[in-house]
Amino acid sequence: MMEPTSKPAAVLLLFLLHSCVANHGEDFVPPTVATKPHKPILCLPNYGIEYNGDLSVTIGGHTCLPWSLPEVKTLSRDKEFISEVQLQTNKCRNPDGDYEGPWCYVRIAGNITMDYCDLQLCDAPLLGPEQTTVTEGRERSVLGQARKNLFSPRTFGQGEDDCGQRPLFEKKNKTDANEACMLFSRWCRIIQDDDAEVASAPWQVMLYRRSPQEFLCGASLISDQWILTAAHCILYPPWNKNFTVSDILGRLGKHRSTMFERGIEKIVAIDEIIVHPKYNWKENLNCDIALLHMRRPVTFTDKIHPICLPSKPVAKFLMSEGFKGRVTGWGSLKESWNPAVRNLTSVLQQIHLPIVDQNICRSSTSVKITDNMFCAGYKPDDNHRGDACEGDSGGPFVMKYPAENRWYQIGIVSWSEGCDRDGKYGFYTHLFRMTKWIGKVIEKMRGSDDE
Ligand SMILES: *[C@@H]1O[C@H](CO)[C@@H](O)[C@H](O)[C@H]1NC(C)=O
Ligand SMILES: *[C@@H]1O[C@H](CO)[C@@H](O)[C@H](O)[C@H]1NC(C)=O
Ligand SMILES: *[C@@H]1O[C@H](CO)[C@@H](O)[C@H](O)[C@H]1NC(C)=O
Ligand SMILES: *[C@@H]1O[C@H](CO)[C@@H](O)[C@H](O)[C@H]1NC(C)=O
Repeated sequence: MMEPTSKPAAVLLLFLLHSCVANHGEDFVPPTVATKPHKPILCLPNYGIEYNGDLSVTIGGHTCLPWSLPEVKTLSRDKEFISEVQLQTNKCRNPDGDYEGPWCYVRIAGNITMDYCDLQLCDAPLLGPEQTTVTEGRERSVLGQARKNLFSPRTFGQGEDDCGQRPLFEKKNKTDANEACMLFSRWCRIIQDDDAEVASAPWQVMLYRRSPQEFLCGASLISDQWILTAAHCILYPPWNKNFTVSDILGRLGKHRSTMFERGIEKIVAIDEIIVHPKYNWKENLNCDIALLHMRRPVTFTDKIHPICLPSKPVAKFLMSEGFKGRVTGWGSLKESWNPAVRNLTSVLQQIHLPIVDQNICRSSTSVKITDNMFCAGYKPDDNHRGDACEGDSGGPFVMKYPAENRWYQIGIVSWSEGCDRDGKYGFYTHLFRMTKWIGKVIEKMRGSDDE
C-alpha cells in the first residue's frame, strides 16, 4: 500500500482522534514553525539530578525563590527529596527526580507555584534511570507491594484510595465484556469493540463549551476535585484556541453524548486551569497535559468514579509492548476535526489498542517524538484494523492492573497523523512521567501577597 503524502514535521497533522484529518485536510491551517538555531549544548544526564549550575530563572521567565524560604519549605515537606541534591540559595535543582528536570518554586501574582528551568536533558528511558528489566518489574508487582497514595488528600481531594475500582464492576466482582481480552491475551479477539457498557468508564468526562454549547474534548476524573485532559484541548494558538475557566464545563457520569442525562450526569464548573509549562504547541505537542480544578468537589456515584494514576511499579508492569490499553470517547471515525461539522457517536465508544515499541513509534513519523509520549495501535501486519481514530483528544488510555484489580490511566489521547493508516499510530501523553509535576502544581500556595 502506498504511503500517503508525507508531511514535514512542522505540518503536524493534528489528530483529534475523532478526526479523520485525511478527508478534511484542506481545512487545516498548519502552524509556521521557525527553525531554531542549533545550539551546541551538552545535555544533562539523569534528568539533571546532578545539576549544580547557577541558573535561577525558569522557562516562564520567573526568578526562583530561595529553597530556604519558609513557604517553600512548607511546600517541599513530604516531597521525599533526594538528600544528595544540594539546595543552594535559589538555584534550579531537581531534588525530587522530576522527569522534566531541574525546577524551582516561583511566585506568580502572589501565589507560589513551581516552574521548570530551561536546561537541555539527555534522552532517557521511558521509565527512569534505575529501570530494571520488564520481568523483574513484573515479578515484583505481582508479589504486590503495599499500595501507597501518590498525592495528599489536602490538595488532591478525595478518591485516591478508592480509585480505579468501578462501583458496578470491580466492587461487585463483575468484569465487563471485553476486559479479559486486554492484558495477557495479545491476539484475543474482541467480541464487541464499539459501545462501552454503561458505567464501565465512570471516570470519563466530557469537556463542554458554554457558548456556543458544543462538545470540546474528552477528559478524565482523577479525584473529587481534579479533572485531567490534554493541553491542546485548552490551548492551541494556531486555531485561536485559548480557553479560560469561564469558557468550559465538565460533564460527568455521561454515557449518551447528545442528550442531557437527567439524574445521572453532573455538570461542574471549573475554577482553575493548569497547563504544563513545557507544553509545546509549536512543534510536537510535547507535554500535552492540563489539569482542571472543579469549583466544588463532586460526589461519586455508580457512574462517577475516579481513575488511578500510575506509580512506578504499576507503569513498569503495564507499559510493555503488546499490552493493550482501552481508549474511550464519543468521537467517531468518519468525522471532521472541525467541531462545527462533527457528529458525535450516540453512546460512549471504547477501543483496545496495543502499546507499540518506542523505536517503532519514532520511525513511524517525522514528528520529533519525546520520552513524554508513547504510541499505540495495530501494526500493518497485525490483521486487525488500527482504528486509532476512535476516541477523543484529551480522553484516557487506561489499563487494568491485575495485582490490585484496579484501572490505571496510563496515557492521555494526544495526536495522530490521520487515522487508520498503515504504519501510523496514535500518540499519547505518558502520564507516569507527569505525576511529579501533578503532585507539585496542585499544591500551589495561594494568595501570600507579601512582596
Ligand atoms: C468478591 O469476591 C471476594 C473474593 O472472592 C469476596 O471476598 C467478596 O466478598 C466478594 N464481594 C462481593 C460483593 O461479592
Ligand atoms: C491565553 O489567554 C490568557 C488570558 O486569558 C493570556 O494571558 C495568555 O497569554 C494567552 N496565551 C496564549 C498562548 O495566547
Ligand atoms: C451530521 O449529522 C447531520 C444530521 O444528522 C448530517 O446532515 C451531516 O451530514 C452529518 N455530518 C457528518 C460530517 O457526518
Ligand atoms: C492567585 O490566587 C488567587 C486567590 O486564590 C487567585 O484568585 C488568583 O487568580 C491567583 N493568581 C494566579 C495568577 O493564579
